[in-house]
Amino acid sequence: MEFIDLRSDTVTQPTDAMRRAMAEAAVGDDVFSEDPTVNELEALAADQLGKEAGLYVPSGTMANLVAVMTHAQKGDEVLLEAESHTFLNEAGGIAAVAGVFPRTITGKLGYIAPEQLRTTIRSQNVHYPPSRLLCLENTHNRAGGIPFGPEEMNPTCNAAHELGLVVHLDGARIFNAAVALGVPAKAIVRECDSVMFCVSKGLSAPVGSVLVGSQTFIDRARRFRKMVGGGMRQAGVIAAAGVVALKTMVNRLAEDHANARCLAEGLAAVPGLSVDLTRVRTNMVLLEVGDRLGSAAEFATRMKREGVLAFDVGRQTIRLVTHRHITQGDISRALEAVRRAARQTVVS
Ligand SMILES: Cc1ncc(COP(=O)(O)O)c(C=O)c1O
Repeated sequence: MEFIDLRSDTVTQPTDAMRRAMAEAAVGDDVFSEDPTVNELEALAADQLGKEAGLYVPSGTMANLVAVMTHAQKGDEVLLEAESHTFLNEAGGIAAVAGVFPRTITGKLGYIAPEQLRTTIRSQNVHYPPSRLLCLENTHNRAGGIPFGPEEMNPTCNAAHELGLVVHLDGARIFNAAVALGVPAKAIVRECDSVMFCVSKGLSAPVGSVLVGSQTFIDRARRFRKMVGGGMRQAGVIAAAGVVALKTMVNRLAEDHANARCLAEGLAAVPGLSVDLTRVRTNMVLLEVGDRLGSAAEFATRMKREGVLAFDVGRQTIRLVTHRHITQGDISRALEAVRRAARQTVVS
């Protein structure tokens, strides 16, 4: 059976142009900063996000870890949204490897408001770890791919700065936010001290993320990347696909967003299922499975039997993600499959 794979945009395969660029990439030893293709990707990323410099890293997880290690010291308190990817899904690396103290704030659909920061932050006191860093996420994955624009990002970043914190943004899908909001990515991240984004998700490159920030920050981050084993030598071979991704793949994300909307509207009409359509803003759909259809895990198994792959992300919640390999036809077929799965499982 050929599956319609809505598990994640990470399943995207490199385009033909990417494969050609990879085959022909000029390379050098990136640990010596001598790989021209990596250097090109880092400069391009920094330019697109309005920062001074960039650092190519094997994964988003490593980019976030390196950012935390660079901004904070062992024992420092790092504030994160309670459902953020860094807190929930990065194997506890910021505690285990960076040795920082994570403290969560429950945001509104992933958004931490300035007032929440002001009421959470503690005074300097011998009993408390020093609060050092705020990590934000945009788009917010667990909230369903919610994008935040400058009018939301800037006040939170400014409040953090006033409270003496630095701000790192997990912008794994920042270009989805930019496309959805019609705002340049650099305007969204203007007040962030560092940003990471992934070329390996909706942008379709096979490997990697780029961390951007000031030149001083990146110079220090380069050492931490080395420390955690992220120095990759002739990495131009993979960075070349990232260059193609940044140059040619950003605007097409709008197609994924349109497909997600179409999918969400179709799913919302299936008896026993519901979708909060106001939350469908980018390429993700959170599907709520009514109790009579069983748990999300059970329903996902039934969807799989009908040819659709998706992850359960909560007891009654399934996440579906659109991407370059999902066509409008796939959306129609996926909806048919979900309707079949729902019909089979309705218990009276
Ligand atoms: C919001 C967010 N941040 C970070 C990551 C980690 O990226 P990677 O899988 O490249 O480690 C992901 C991965 O899905 C993500 O969704």
